[in-house]
Amino acid sequence: MRPVNATNICKASFEIDDLPIISIGVKSSLLRIVQEFIQNSIKHSGCKEIKIKLSVLNDNLALLLQDDGKGFDIDKPQHTGIGLDSIRRRIQMLGGEYNFTGSAGKGVCLIITIPINNAKD
Ligand SMILES: Nc1ncnc2c1ncn2[C@@H]1O[C@H](COP(=O)(O)OP(=O)(O)O)[C@@H](O)[C@H]1O
Ligand SMILES: [Mg+2]
Repeated sequence: MRPVNATNICKASFEIDDLPIISIGVKSSLLRIVQEFIQNSIKHSGCKEIKIKLSVLNDNLALLLQDDGKGFDIDKPQHTGIGLDSIRRRIQMLGGEYNFTGSAGKGVCLIITIPINNAKD
């Protein structure tokens, strides 16, 4: 988060719960998702704050990604690029599910859940 905060464009915070052991493959996928999300928030949203939280919810890993920028309509075709596509593909590969809310003016919130069993070695 430090490189993002050092830009003085917006503030990024990262909160993490006590986690079970997660495989390297899953960790790196999650990292790529987080990187892509942050990149989009900085490039497109004009946000002041990005919040990221990784926690355990029932039998799932839950990754919450949120910005307070201008938001966008996820269902509009002009908003599908390689970045969002690769996020979707990674979630699919992890056997996870996601809920994406992005509406004009309200920022973007992406909640990803991955069964803990898929995140172990
Ligand atoms: N956090 C965000 N805030 C506002 N708009 C966004 C955000 N993330 C994505 N978008 C919109 O969705 C589009 C597609 O994003 P993406 O697939 O990552 O492609 P790219 O970043 O190369 O344009 C972006 O061009 C932008 O219009
Ligand atoms: Mg992008």
